[in-house]
Amino acid sequence: MNGKKIIIAIDGHSSCGKSTVAREIARRLNYIFIDSGAMYRAVTLYCLRNGIVDKGVVNHAALIADLGKIKVYFKNNPSNNHNDIWLNGENVEDEIRLLEVSQNVSPVAAVAEVRHLLVSLQQEMGNTKGIVMDGRDIGTVVFPEAELKIFMTAQPDVRAQRRFDELTAKGEKVSYDEIRANILERDRYDETREQSPLRKADDAIVLDNSAMTRKEQLDWVLNHVSKV
Ligand code: DC
Repeated sequence: MNGKKIIIAIDGHSSCGKSTVAREIARRLNYIFIDSGAMYRAVTLYCLRNGIVDKGVVNHAALIADLGKIKVYFKNNPSNNHNDIWLNGENVEDEIRLLEVSQNVSPVAAVAEVRHLLVSLQQEMGNTKGIVMDGRDIGTVVFPEAELKIFMTAQPDVRAQRRFDELTAKGEKVSYDEIRANILERDRYDETREQSPLRKADDAIVLDNSAMTRKEQLDWVLNHVSKV
């Protein structure tokens, strides 16, 4: 790479560490990191709080009627220099990771109007390049012209164990089986939905990190960045 800023799109399955890798790559390159899943989670949190989604069932009419009231954006958190997700004036970075949000986010993310809104916000963020964005449709829909596209995956048991460890460390009482079931269900939902289903872009390179350390993953991505 010759110093020009590029767009790096990272898509893939749930809970395979996309955001962790994307954040670290952005830090190394001095790029902006955007966790697009956080935006879908924030909209889901709004829906949960307002009775618009319940047990995975979305009230479409109510969601569309409220869409103009849902303001989702990122703000730098000076304590750790992360871009935290905000919903209507409130930092919801922690709350969006709760299992209840995970259990309701896929049906909310499948609503076309929600996707149109969030995709256009994401495309604006990429105007200046120098961005690493992770999600499900970044290389296929948001930035089809991205200079580097990575499709990340890992075996379901490995992903479930990582997510279980992460939530338990935060003090959430969760069962491993419930988490594993949620991960498989989200994959199935994300891959089979009508709107922008999760799929590998034809020109994406696959990173299966089931047996890789964090450092090995970073080196792998940085090596591909250097070849752009
Ligand atoms: O990356 P994540 O697990 O935090 O994403 C939460 C959900 O949001 C995921 O199950 C699917 C949806 N999502 C999406 O549909 N498109 C994106 N670009 C990012 C996430």
